[in-house]
Amino acid sequence: MLLTSNPEKTIAFNRKIHDGNLVIVYVKHGNMKAVTVSEGSVFQNSLGAFKHSDWIGKPFGSKVFNNKGDFVYLLAPTPELWTLVLNHRTQILYIPDISFVIMYLEIVAGCLVLESGTGSGSLTTSLARAIAPNGHVYTFDFHEQRAASARDDFERIGLSSLISCGVRDIQGEGFPDELNELADSVFLDLPQPWLAIPSAAKMLKQDGTFCSFSPCIEQVQRSCDALQSCFTGWNGI
Ligand SMILES: C[S@@+](CC[C@H](N)C(=O)[O-])C[C@H]1O[C@@H](n2cnc3c(N)ncnc32)[C@H](O)[C@@H]1O
Repeated sequence: MLLTSNPEKTIAFNRKIHDGNLVIVYVKHGNMKAVTVSEGSVFQNSLGAFKHSDWIGKPFGSKVFNNKGDFVYLLAPTPELWTLVLNHRTQILYIPDISFVIMYLEIVAGCLVLESGTGSGSLTTSLARAIAPNGHVYTFDFHEQRAASARDDFERIGLSSLISCGVRDIQGEGFPDELNELADSVFLDLPQPWLAIPSAAKMLKQDGTFCSFSPCIEQVQRSCDALQSCFTGWNGI
C-alpha cells in the first residue's frame, strides 16, 4: 500500500506516476532521494540529468534512463522508504522499532492513536498507514517549527487527512481533554514521559494500549512507577 490516503491511489502495483506525485528516486543502495514530480523539471545527480517528463505515466517501480543510458528506479513512497529519506530534525524511530511498536500496540485500520512528540514524523507516517483509511493519528510536539515541518511533510506525502499535528507541551499540559477516553493507543517518545502518563491514562479507552519509548533505564523506571499509579491492573512488558 502506498503512503497516500486517497483510495483511488492505494493500489501500489500498477499505479502510474502523475505530475505532482512524490517519488523516491533509488540510485543505488544507500542513495535515495524524495522528489516531487514536476513536468518541466530535471533531476540532476552524479549520473547526469533525468527529465521528470519522462517519468510521468510510468508505473511506480519503473527503471528510467537519462540520455547517456544511465538509470534510476522510481519507487512509491512507502513509510519504510520515507523513514530512510526524510529530513532528520530529531532522532527518529527506524523500521525495527516501528514494527514492534505498531504490532504490540495492536494498531489496525480505524484506530484513533495519540502520539507525542512528533519529532521528524518517522513513526507518524507508519501509524497513519496502519490506521488508514478511517482511523486518525493526533500527534503533538511543543516545538512549533518542528510541528510545521512535519505537517508540510504529511501534506507532501498525501497523509494529511489521516493526521492532525498540533503544537502542545504534552509533559506540561497533557493531551487535549476533548480526546478523553477516545484513544485506542497512546505512544510517547518524550524526555520525561512519566509527566505525560497521567494524561495518557485519561485518554485511553478501557482496553486501550500504551507504549513509551525511552533510551535510558532511569526514564523507564520512572515511567513504570507512573504507570503503576495511573493504571489499575497495569500489565506491562
Ligand atoms: C526523539 S523526538 C521524536 C521522534 C519521533 N518518534 C520520530 O520517529 O520521528 C522527541 C520529540 O519530542 C518533542 N518534545 C520534547 N518535549 C516535549 C513536550 N513537553 N511536549 C511535546 N513534545 C515534546 C521534541 O520537540 C522532539 O521533537
